[in-house]
Amino acid sequence: MGIPIREYDAVVVGAGLAGLAAARELKKAGKSVIMITKLHPLRSHSGAAQGGINAAFAEEDSIDLHMFDTIKGSDYLADQDAVEFMCSTAPELVRWFESMGAVFSRNENGTIAQRPFGGQSHPRACYAKDRTGLTLLQTMFEQTNRLGVDFLDEWYVSDIIYKNGVVCGVCAYDIKTSEPVIFNSKVVMFATGGYGRAFKINSNAHANTGDALSIVARHGLPLEDMEFVQFHPTGLAGTGILMSEAARGEGGKLLNSKGERFMEKYAPSKMELGPRDLVSRSITQEVLEGRGVGPDKDAVYLDLTHLGEEKIMERLPELRDLAITFLGQDMVTEPVMIAATAHYSMGGIPVTIEGRAKKNTKDLVTGFYAAGECACVSVHGANRLGANSVLEAPLFGRHVGKTMAEDIDKIELTPVDESVADAMLAEMKMLTENNGDERVVGLRSELQASMTENAGVFRTKESLEKEKKIIKELRERFKNVRIDDKSPIYNTDLQEAIELGHMLEYSAFIVEGALARNESRGAHFRNDFEVRDDDNFLKHTYAYMDENGDVSLEYGEVKLGKFEPEARTY
Ligand code: FUM
Repeated sequence: MGIPIREYDAVVVGAGLAGLAAARELKKAGKSVIMITKLHPLRSHSGAAQGGINAAFAEEDSIDLHMFDTIKGSDYLADQDAVEFMCSTAPELVRWFESMGAVFSRNENGTIAQRPFGGQSHPRACYAKDRTGLTLLQTMFEQTNRLGVDFLDEWYVSDIIYKNGVVCGVCAYDIKTSEPVIFNSKVVMFATGGYGRAFKINSNAHANTGDALSIVARHGLPLEDMEFVQFHPTGLAGTGILMSEAARGEGGKLLNSKGERFMEKYAPSKMELGPRDLVSRSITQEVLEGRGVGPDKDAVYLDLTHLGEEKIMERLPELRDLAITFLGQDMVTEPVMIAATAHYSMGGIPVTIEGRAKKNTKDLVTGFYAAGECACVSVHGANRLGANSVLEAPLFGRHVGKTMAEDIDKIELTPVDESVADAMLAEMKMLTENNGDERVVGLRSELQASMTENAGVFRTKESLEKEKKIIKELRERFKNVRIDDKSPIYNTDLQEAIELGHMLEYSAFIVEGALARNESRGAHFRNDFEVRDDDNFLKHTYAYMDENGDVSLEYGEVKLGKFEPEARTY
């Protein structure tokens, strides 16, 4: 029997905040839409976002200040037209969530409570205790169900159908049975999240393997600014599980082994509420200089004991629970050990504000869209501000959904035949039948450890060249990988092998972009080029993979605006 071909107006891949918001718009516009996700939607990584969603509501705050903080935070690499769209839409978006039933924490007078976050001029993060992402995700999921959006949970999208500048569907298989299906559609949207799993210590869900990025790259399409990987300052020591920035927003202090509040040295005016890149580097520097704590002296303390149990339980209950569960440390009575953790991917599929994917620095792909962490629009530039991602994902997701609904009326469905699934089937067959002596877990661990060491918080030409060589070798060894589970039923061995293939490919993009960027900007810090170099590098990286797997680079302009690049001090 042949491979089934199903036809839709729209396929949305990924059911986090961006994907759900898009699907809702498509359904409302009367389009046939299928959401495909490798997880249950409520397990999407949007649900792990804890601290808040930014919107300039307060009288002393403004859209301009939100824009300025975001652009300064981005180390001036953000595209200012996209930032303006995001910041000016933010208050309406939060009200929109509220009108759909999202329960935000409140001030005594009934207004939505807002807390301070790093790099911001005012308390701007609206929140729902420390479960903001989950609250919004549940709201969006309810709304899409209410409208009758169709979901395929636990399906794995392996490829896009791309020819002559047009995307007209995806190839996927049902994880439960391994049965392949071709989804033929007028438009496809990727909303698949980030790529933090390439690093050993990270705050990302197990699923954040960046599949979409190398799927796109395999077709010769570009990825933008992949070298910019955000390290969140406060991941639980050892595991990297997120201890929300809300902890510092509520008054948490960072202490080294000498009990010093070391942020005084690095960000005297903002202290613990400096931007993430700066605070992560400061923590890592303290550790490297021997002032770390814990058995391996590779962490520092996050001290919240002065807040008291009542405030901690009111504002940070999830964090307390996580620290007790994973470290046995109760933040009410003792400081918690934390260290920098790979958290967010600033790079991704280059898109316009409407979410249309780019074919190169000038042209667009027809029928292909992206939003959320897998996309690079670019509102975060070289470093994202906390609580701007929970904002960006549904805001651009909704906007892209509207765009797709309009475009669908202008696009003819390109018919396809079974041969479009050849690459997916060949990959599945190769990985299932291969009888080599390499294992997924071993290769993945080597990749993650070396990426953390050589392409992490601090980088040099030497470390990046070393990593480039390591990735090349790992990619060779991957050809010799063997999985033990050969069955078609819930074959997670197979899925993890496919995901590892993606991780190895997009890691090469991170390293190549970082190697060529001879400057320090935002989250990309080169010990051998410590200063930002606007003359040579105020530009976006566009990276392409050729048929041999080699990555080449070109550069695109940054859309500047009313905020001129200036020295970035806190
Ligand atoms: O720290 C946090 O709560 C994370 C939020 C974010 O990444 O925006």
